[in-house]
Amino acid sequence: MPKPFYLTTPIYYVNDRPHIGHVYTTVLADAIARFHRQMGEPVRFLTGTDEHGQKVEKAAAARGIAPKALADEVVANYTDLWARMGMTHDRFIRTTDADHRETVQRWFKKLLDSGDIYKATYKGLYSVSDEAFVTETQAKELQAQGLAHQLIELEEETYFFRLSKYEKPLLDFYATHPDFVQPDFRFNEVKRFVEGGLQDLSISRTTINWGIPVPGDEKHVVYVWFDALLNYLTGAKDEKGGDAWSPDLQIVGKDILRFHAVYWPAFLMAMGLELPKAILAHGWWLMGNDKMSKSKGNIVRPDTLLKYGNDALRYYFLRDMQVGHDRDFAFEGFIDRLNADLANGLGNLASRSISMIQRYRNGAFPGASKMDESDAAVDAQGRALLPAFVAQANAHNFNAALDGLWVFLRGLDGYIVQAEPWKLAKDEANAAKLDTVLAILYRALRVASAALASVMPDMAQQLWESLGLPGKVADQRLDQLAWDAPAPGPVADPKPLFARIDKEKDMSELESANAAPAPSAPSLDVPEIRETVDADTFFKVDLRVGKILEAERVPKSDKLIKMKVDLGLEQRTIVGGLGKAYEPDELLQRSVVVVANLAPRKLMGIESHGMLLAASDAGSKPYLIAPPADALPGFIVK
Ligand code: MSP
Repeated sequence: MPKPFYLTTPIYYVNDRPHIGHVYTTVLADAIARFHRQMGEPVRFLTGTDEHGQKVEKAAAARGIAPKALADEVVANYTDLWARMGMTHDRFIRTTDADHRETVQRWFKKLLDSGDIYKATYKGLYSVSDEAFVTETQAKELQAQGLAHQLIELEEETYFFRLSKYEKPLLDFYATHPDFVQPDFRFNEVKRFVEGGLQDLSISRTTINWGIPVPGDEKHVVYVWFDALLNYLTGAKDEKGGDAWSPDLQIVGKDILRFHAVYWPAFLMAMGLELPKAILAHGWWLMGNDKMSKSKGNIVRPDTLLKYGNDALRYYFLRDMQVGHDRDFAFEGFIDRLNADLANGLGNLASRSISMIQRYRNGAFPGASKMDESDAAVDAQGRALLPAFVAQANAHNFNAALDGLWVFLRGLDGYIVQAEPWKLAKDEANAAKLDTVLAILYRALRVASAALASVMPDMAQQLWESLGLPGKVADQRLDQLAWDAPAPGPVADPKPLFARIDKEKDMSELESANAAPAPSAPSLDVPEIRETVDADTFFKVDLRVGKILEAERVPKSDKLIKMKVDLGLEQRTIVGGLGKAYEPDELLQRSVVVVANLAPRKLMGIESHGMLLAASDAGSKPYLIAPPADALPGFIVK
């Protein structure tokens, strides 16, 4: 059994449901997997979820549930979506899987024994959002981006990976493997980073519990990136004992390239394992040229777009994104693309051509016996079509591959207009020319169907069947399909491939389905700043950090919520007017600022012992003031 083409996606964090960014990565990988199968290669395609670490631990705490329960919930979202979208991965790996835990602990121990991992004390800055210690330079970068609040001072005993030792071997490897990272400009970023010098990497944590324990020293858990990257090792093995190592292609987003192109190969060098052949870093889908994020409320979820069908979404992703670059997502562009290329373009051409073969030739495939100059030109372009598509897809340039195909398909509309088959059909003397025109159209559609099987699997199959072709289009070898092969049988009735979208109607629906929360009013509705008070007066107010432990609505009030709040020294009942802005569930486990020495007062019969601070103007909802997650209940706010 030859080694399969081993292809991986990143494994997704389970702190949130999938959005179109995650779907894009997986669609790209799935198209590449299908393409390689159609080139006759066995493929192993791995995807899955990254379940340990602080991000997930925190997200679970905010919901008041165990991290594994959150992971199970989000994993179901992923696996359902991939099943609905017909993804063809061979394994969905979870970092909580037993065989993965075994891989991580085994390699940790081996590297500890070989000296590539050692224990020492780390003192310095730590980025909570990246879950990584940061160098002075990185800290300055974060400060410049206004992200300094993500940094905390940390001193802890930790295990280090001897990354510095691999600086030179990595640079040598890059020099001898010019295609290791694609595209080139990203490879240059990686090289510059390594040339800037590598420090040893902390690969264990004592500050969190949710992770794989370090073997023999269980108060440490393995750093989430060491854990996560090794999924590719665990997942290389199949159920029958086969091993697909090493990866032929690893697809990652630009944001996680450094982990894959620097740390990961260094780990593999230390392990004495073969390195991946190529890492493909794609860009991001943006919204209004901005990063998609929950807080901005501009995340596009796949369900919003999947109502147009899985194939349409796949086509749009692969056609409109030039791998490596960022691309702004817009509903209008999405609809225009599908209408132009699928409804008017391919769909229209297919139904027109197949109907003509039915009408003029009773559905039988006509032979092209005679060609004039214009036929020969189109025929020659058609012959070159599949090899060009294959070359582009091999280089993962689906947008160029599809663009080339559509340039040809659009050209066929002109060819039809020029040849006027409806006129040719009226005169028996033109029978040979009509045969040729119809044969060229048939061949073009057959090649398009085969080429599109990796991009739009269902639509390609439907077209294949309409052409009267047997079996599965996905089984057609792209390197063997002959342009002018005879057709085995008559064409079938053409089924519409893609229904035109009513743009006006759907645009407003789509935009409201995905509407950002109402933007805050540009003009402030607040009174003037109040009269001056002296510091003593202000300091009489005792402000404390609290954590909301319980929350429930006060019966018969749509505004009041009764909460139990932990103030470190004691727990309090506090009634707050938050009911129109928050659901009780959303309040659980939140850190808040409490006015702790406010005289108790009764609200709807319940005695409230304090008040939560919130920000608002007259027109907005109250936004609770949130201390950083590390501030403990009872901390003084001043
Ligand atoms: N868990 C890590 C990866 C570990 S791999 C050993 C992680 N997970 S993630 O869920 O945050 O992101 C997974 C992938 O989704 C990344 O490749 C990332 O680039 C991609 N995307 C996230 N948002 C995206 C867009 N808006 N557009 C395109 N892809 C984006 O990082």
